Amino acid sequence: MTVKTEQEIALMREPCAIVRDTLAYVGSKIKPGVTTKELDEYAEKYIRSRGAEPSCLGYCGYPASICASVNEVVVHGIPGDRVIREGDIVSIDLCAYKNGFHGDAARTFLVGDVAEEKKKLVRVTEECFFKGIENLRAGTPLYDIGARVQRHAEENGFSVVRALVGHGIGREMHEDPSVPNFGKAGTGIRLKAGMVICIEPMINMGGYQVDFMQDGWTVKTRDGKPAAHYENTVVIREDGVEILTL
Ligand code: MF3
Ligand code: CO
Repeated sequence: MTVKTEQEIALMREPCAIVRDTLAYVGSKIKPGVTTKELDEYAEKYIRSRGAEPSCLGYCGYPASICASVNEVVVHGIPGDRVIREGDIVSIDLCAYKNGFHGDAARTFLVGDVAEEKKKLVRVTEECFFKGIENLRAGTPLYDIGARVQRHAEENGFSVVRALVGHGIGREMHEDPSVPNFGKAGTGIRLKAGMVICIEPMINMGGYQVDFMQDGWTVKTRDGKPAAHYENTVVIREDGVEILTL
């Protein structure tokens, strides 16, 4: 479980800030009638304009710079001809590489007038992240994060995706440890100051089960109900956490 030095963390600030800014920029482009492919083009141009590279492009053969996951798509939606419509929720997940390090974050955007229950799903998913980091500091058992995320999601009548998890990040986009959004409080490794992890609740309105599509990437809810995703890159500190992508 690698612990980053302060110099390494300093180098991670820039890719993380670029991810944050790209998400805001792409979010501003999300409107009815836009395709997910167009969002991908906006993102790629913007990331490159900041002197970074889109980490996802070519990662294990992934064909785009962002993941754009609409409604029942949980994560890893490949940008394409899907047209965004009023009432959709659109998760954008992206990574940028600069200074030898990656940053990674995701947001779920509302498109126009969205049904109350879907709005609640998006709000609760974001809250799950903040519950997950509550009291988080060096020494916290890893699965405390997931236990908190899971409790908040389930208290609100939603479910936590089990098939995908958060992760460490640094010179590689995915490093140890795996960071589940479920689990038993008080268990798992104790986090150390200087660890950098991505906490990324993926929350379903219906059941937790998901299916992996034939394209090798797209993950959908089995029951076809909507899902939301919210993620930040976080540094563990002695006395708390520092969120690099906010
Ligand atoms: N941010 C995503 C993750 O943490 C990146 C997915 S890799 C991609 O898993 F290639 F699908 F983009
Ligand atoms: Co991630």
